[in-house]
Amino acid sequence: MTPTVLVLNGPNLGRLGSREPEVYGSVTFDALVKQCEEVAAGLGLGVDVRQTDDEAELVRWLHEAADASVPVVLNPAAFTHYSYALRDACAQLTAPLIEVHLTNPATREQFRHTTVVAGVATGTIAGFGADSYRLALMAVADLLGMAS
Ligand code: DQA
Repeated sequence: MTPTVLVLNGPNLGRLGSREPEVYGSVTFDALVKQCEEVAAGLGLGVDVRQTDDEAELVRWLHEAADASVPVVLNPAAFTHYSYALRDACAQLTAPLIEVHLTNPATREQFRHTTVVAGVATGTIAGFGADSYRLALMAVADLLGMAS
């Protein structure tokens, strides 16, 4: 059976492509979804890519992943920096969690230097644009013992 990875995206990421392209690049969210699907297929993984601007919905999806022991690639977006609710939901995960960011928050404004999620993540990949997601899916495949 093909293992499925939940790729969860927080607020404003649905606007990729038009959102501050000088910061986040020109790849649209739809293109990012397609890229994740292609990369996952190449690794022998399935993906379910979702985006929401709603903290409660993101928490519900994390509960779903915890209950089903599904690996998660998570870009918590701005919630990264202050959402203890999200952090507590991440702490309940029972399979690997990779935190991803398109940009490298450590090189940006001071408020982005704090991540409340990193402490409960298996690892973090940041700063490689859309490629951060490819690297995160590779890390999941590796952790699941699937990488060649
Ligand atoms: C982000 C970085 C966050 O600081 C920001 O709030 C985002 C996107 C990234 O992918 O680089 O929305 O998570």
